[in-house]
Amino acid sequence: MASSLSLSVSVILLLCFAGAVSGQRLSPTFYSRSCPTALAIIKAAVTAAVAQEPRMGASLLRLHFHDCFVQGCNASVLLNDTATFTGEQGAGPNIGSIRGFDVVDSIKSQLEAACRQTVSCADILAVAARDSVVALGGPSWRVLLGRRDSTTASMALANSDLPAPSLDVVSLTAAFAAKRLSRTDMVALSGAHTFGQAQCQNFRDRLYNETNINSAFATALKANCPQPTGSGDGNLAPLDTTTPTAFDNAYYRNLLTQRGLLHSDQVLFSGGVTDGLVRAYASTPSRFSTDFAAAMVKMGNISPLTGTQGQIRLTCSKVN
Ligand code: HEM
Ligand SMILES: *[C@@H]1O[C@H](CO)[C@@H](O)[C@H](O)[C@H]1NC(C)=O
Ligand SMILES: *[C@@H]1O[C@H](CO)[C@@H](O)[C@H](O)[C@H]1NC(C)=O
Ligand SMILES: *[C@@H]1O[C@H](CO)[C@@H](O)[C@H](O)[C@H]1NC(C)=O
Repeated sequence: MASSLSLSVSVILLLCFAGAVSGQRLSPTFYSRSCPTALAIIKAAVTAAVAQEPRMGASLLRLHFHDCFVQGCNASVLLNDTATFTGEQGAGPNIGSIRGFDVVDSIKSQLEAACRQTVSCADILAVAARDSVVALGGPSWRVLLGRRDSTTASMALANSDLPAPSLDVVSLTAAFAAKRLSRTDMVALSGAHTFGQAQCQNFRDRLYNETNINSAFATALKANCPQPTGSGDGNLAPLDTTTPTAFDNAYYRNLLTQRGLLHSDQVLFSGGVTDGLVRAYASTPSRFSTDFAAAMVKMGNISPLTGTQGQIRLTCSKVN
């Protein structure tokens, strides 16, 4: 009796311990005792960076997306190439395009000074994404925390798992479904293209070859995005021409008038299954805000490392 009781107690303890090591759930209060100033430090740094350059908010949000879609939100996107692996920054969707590393590094040094080796780089990206959206007028949400950092990165997976702007609705839906995100999540998260910028090489085909594009909009953009391929590839245009630096629902209103910048934007409103949702987000900003915030929490939950998995990096661009 006594021994079977102590056996079941040890089994329970063992199970609890196993739970702490792996498969732990993320929590909004993860750092409230270990680093109570963490969230305030990140918010202040993001607010300052966005005040200096509004586009930085878009860049930081995109970093979190590009982190989460490649082997989960493990901060793998932040790792530089090493002798043993080729990282994600040189992958097609990232090279010459993702930015915000200096802001992340500066946040990380401040956090190391406040609470050594406590706050993960993956969590910095998740919180900075939320604070960026808020700083530019968008919705807020409680960020779940407790992610740990990877010890490796994968250029091949960055190339295969990040969606390309040439995709149609079926392929976009499949790319998000592969991360257990629904079609609604896909349409809501695409609303991130309400701020930030894209390079000519990513929308040239749309300007010169597509018919579901507003002609005045196309003509204006062609001036800074000439043919043929190769000239002006890196020239920038706002993803949302109406309110380029505000996080609002203008992205969807643009789609209603064929003013989506990327092919992958306009396909969401071109006579297909997602038209209804685009109309709803265009007419009801609160519905977009609610769905966007919920989808961000889901995206932030993509297979994180928890417990004692991975590590807390001391410098976000390299493994300890
Ligand atoms: C639906 C599939 C998506 C595709 C095909 C896509 C594609 C792209 C492309 C091609 C660019 C321009 C890159 C450049 O020219 O340098 C871009 C920019 C951006 N994307 Fe996406 N994206 C998608 C979803 C998302 C999601 C889910 C988010 C975040 C939740 C996001 C956030 C952004 C932001 C904020 C920018 C502007 C970044 C800046 O100005 O630095 N995108 N995206
Ligand atoms: C990672 O690469 C960036 C850009 O080249 C560089 O500024 C940074 O110092 C590198 N990080 C490390 C730890 O070497
Ligand atoms: C990120 O975490 C997931 C889930 O634990 C794991 O499968 C994956 O290998 C990790 N990625 C890296 C690059 O360590
Ligand atoms: C337009 O489409 C044609 C045929 O698919 C292709 O050869 C051409 O390169 C495209 N033009 C641009 C600017 O993308």
